[in-house]
Amino acid sequence: MIYATLKSIASYVPPTCVANADFEKFLDTSDEWITKRTGIKTRYFALPSQSTSDLAYEAGKKAMERAGVSADDIDALIVATLSPDYLTMPSTACITSYKLGIENKPAFDISSACSGFIYLLSLAKSFIESRTYKRILVIGAEKVSSVLDFSDRSTCVLFGDGAGACVIEATEDKNAAILDVHTSANGKHQDFLCTPRIQSVSQSIFSDKLESSKSFCLHDSTYLQMKGNETFKLAVKTLVSDVNTILAHNTLQPKDITYFIPHQANLRIINAVGEHLSFDEKQIVISVQKYGNTSAASIPMAMNDLYEANKLKYGDLMLLDAFGGGLTWGSALVHFGGES
Ligand code: UT7
Repeated sequence: MIYATLKSIASYVPPTCVANADFEKFLDTSDEWITKRTGIKTRYFALPSQSTSDLAYEAGKKAMERAGVSADDIDALIVATLSPDYLTMPSTACITSYKLGIENKPAFDISSACSGFIYLLSLAKSFIESRTYKRILVIGAEKVSSVLDFSDRSTCVLFGDGAGACVIEATEDKNAAILDVHTSANGKHQDFLCTPRIQSVSQSIFSDKLESSKSFCLHDSTYLQMKGNETFKLAVKTLVSDVNTILAHNTLQPKDITYFIPHQANLRIINAVGEHLSFDEKQIVISVQKYGNTSAASIPMAMNDLYEANKLKYGDLMLLDAFGGGLTWGSALVHFGGES
């Protein structure tokens, strides 16, 4: 039996560290509010000259080095992002593969917002188990700062830029396998988190049929907008039920999990989810205080912190769980299959 294994993990943190107090200079906000309501203390923003593919390149290069593979060994590259280099084409994956020297191999993006990394795992697992590809580079990369409205205090203080990458390859060792991945979506609440001015919606000739979509196209804005409260409540409910479902599906209990790595949107969401589940504090991985919400990059960046702190060993079982715009959500049970 062939399984997919997570062979390496790496991340890239862009150079500009922005503290909560930096927002006080131009917004009616405070370090106290941001810390209390979100747990976030700092986030990192890319340089104006850096695009999402530059961040993806840095993380992808390091992931390949850590897996001991070269560009020629990669059979496909998939990037998850909500902040692509170009609005429609070419894909950020195409540009990243060029930068990495991965030539004449499939490269494409997926759009699943903050759940992007779980969707990447689902695709990589299927491609490898079906023997379509032997080795895939997956990258969650975001320059969220490029779609933030820096006059909107309710969103701009929450997000950060960054990238996280993994080499996923075939193995026969079930103890190193990506055991299970669940992904899901429901467009009913598309207006909870969106960048409204998307052409195919706002300029559709069938606009009378899109009455419900019009409601969120009131603002002529390319910037990210969020109904924070509503999203918060659904996030907690969905994350809890997702974890319970994937654990039950695999006859596992929280104590069988080495690390629980939830999407890093808000410390209060992580704590509320933790309260409903019986994970020990030591099992829960938290990096939102350092990086803010880096969307599709948040889970691999948190995982990379574990790896770089020498806390991740071959065979450790991680439970990943994400929730984001779409709405989309997903969970995954993943053994670490790399070297410590
Ligand atoms: O990654 C995808 C999933 N994302 C999430 O799951 C995020 C979910 N939502 C959240 O994390 C939280 O809802 C937020 C952090 C976005 C907001 O926290 P909240 O406790 O839900 O605050 P709120 O939206 O209810 O706002 C409370 C007050 C409001 O003032 P009034 O109306 O009570 O006078 C806001 O205007 O806080 C105000 N406020 C701020 N004050 C200072 C909103 N943002 C700020 C700010 N600084 N940055």
